[in-house]
Order: sequence, then C-alpha cells, then structure tokens
Amino acid sequence: MSRPDVVDNVAALRARIQDWRRDGLRVAMVPTMGALHEGHLSLIRIAREKAQRSVVSIFVNPTQFAPSEDLDKYPRQLARDLDMLATVKADLAFTPTVGAMYPAGFATKISVGGPTAGLESDFRPTFFEGVATVVAKLFLQATPDYAVFGEKDYQQLCVVRQLCCDLDLPVGIIGAPTIRDAHGLAMSSRNAYLGEAELAVARQLNAILRKAAAAMSTGAPQDDATGEASRALIAAGFQKIDYVEARESLTLAPWRRDRAGRLLAAAWLGKTRLIDNVDVPTA
Ligand code: PAJ
Repeated sequence: MSRPDVVDNVAALRARIQDWRRDGLRVAMVPTMGALHEGHLSLIRIAREKAQRSVVSIFVNPTQFAPSEDLDKYPRQLARDLDMLATVKADLAFTPTVGAMYPAGFATKISVGGPTAGLESDFRPTFFEGVATVVAKLFLQATPDYAVFGEKDYQQLCVVRQLCCDLDLPVGIIGAPTIRDAHGLAMSSRNAYLGEAELAVARQLNAILRKAAAAMSTGAPQDDATGEASRALIAAGFQKIDYVEARESLTLAPWRRDRAGRLLAAAWLGKTRLIDNVDVPTA
C-alpha cells in the first residue's frame, strides 16, 4: 500500500485538484489535525464512496486553541499518519505550515452565529472562530465537492453546515457517525493522554449519556435527566462537568420534546477534557 502524495502549499494543492477536475473527477475533503485514528479513517472511507478523489488536510490549527490549551502538546506524527492514510487509499494529503495558512499580516476571522451559542462556546469562547476560519480557508483552497465531518464533534458539524449555508460555499457537508472502542469510548487523539484508571472512567461517559437520552425520550424532564447524568459522571470519577445539555439536533436550538434531539456533554478527567453526544429519539 502506498502513501498518498503530499502537498504542503496552496499552489500545489490547486494544481493537483485542477488536474482532477479536468478529468471530470469529483473531490471529497476530510479536514483533520492529524494524530489519525479509526475515527478519521472512517471519514476517509466515506469520502472515497462519495467522490472519485479524496484529499485529507493535516493541520494543527493554532487559532482554535486557547492559550491555556494543549497546542504544544498536541500529538504530531506525520509519518505514522501517512501510513494510516495508505491503508484507506487516500489520494492526497495537504500539510500546510502555520506560516502558509497565517502569513504575517493575516487579519480575518469568521464568526458564525446560530449553532455556536453555548455548549463548547461557553468554555472555549474563541474555538469556533478558529474552526470556521480555517475550514473556510481549506474549502476555498481545495474547492471540494464534498467534505466529511464527524458527529463526534457534533456542534462543530452544525457550525460548518451553517458556515457553508450562510457564505454560499458550494461544499456538500456529510456528517459521519462516531467511531468508538469496544467499551463505547469515542475515539479521540486526546484519549492518548489518559492513564489506565482514567480510561476506565472515560468508558462510562457514553453509557451514562445514553441512559439519560433514553429517559428523556420516554418522558423524563430534561433537567432531571441531565442532572442525574451529571451526578452519575461525578460518581464514576469525572472531576468536573462543563455541560450536559439537550439541543434540537438540526439547529442546536433548545430541545423540544416533539423534535429530534441530541444530548451533548463535556467533562474533565484530570487534565483531559472529553466530549461526547448521543441521539435523543422522539418518543
Ligand atoms: P480533528 O479533531 O483531527 O478531527 C477531524 C475530524 O475527525 C472531525 O470531523 C472529527 O469530528 C472527526 N472525528 C474525530 N474523532 C472521531 C470519531 N471517534 N469518530 C468519527 N469521527 C471522528 O475536528 C478537527 O480536527 C478540527 O477542528 C478541524 C475540523 C480539522 C479544523 O481544524
């Protein structure tokens, strides 16, 4: 299995994509920050089903990290990532430098409203500005027909949809289901920070959310179900709960019982912050 070709600048990326377009091929993009795992690979498989050519960006985007966050510690392992991309036959990896994405004098920020309200924004106030700006840049650089994002980062997926809709970016956004380990823990690069004992705690997050979602869809008031889930997370060993909250699944407006819902949570285990979300089926 051979590694994908790698381009590290926008001109080379555009040249490759233009060649594909000239041949009438459609292009699907999977934006990532590297440290690839099965979750990322599942998105690339979907990209390859949707379009004849796939491009995976690997860029640890500094503008979505707050000063207190793990930008320096974020795992960077390009050689291993390229080996993993070979296993799913990705066609092209785009690995721009920070200087290429944000040259001196860069002065634009994209601020999305709607689904950015609350949840992650309450704890990471500049996060979605960083994500929206880099995703818009990646889309304008690569001009993909489709892009695949994981439901793992559910609010991010909704924000990207809103961004494309509002700015008329002609990219079909595909949401992909969360890939989990055998115990239900959503795969994440940040799981690598967890020790054995923390891992056992982390593995309870999804079951606790599913139990709360099931209670809500069979009539439990939202506050009762989310309060119970928060208590269960603390009892399991999480030290701090940022939020456990139900939203309307398409718009992320406050959840209404007659609408499809999503229960989203973020909680801390030591220095590691984990997020997850589950469907709240309509009764
Ligand atoms: P990153 O955390 O590397 O994630 C890249 C993509 O992989 C995102 O769409 C994310 O939702 C998806 N993903 C991560 N874990 C997953 C899992 N267990 N199952 C399914 N999909 C999963 O998200 C980002 O990077 C960045 O914010 C980015 C969009 C690249 C902008 O910088």
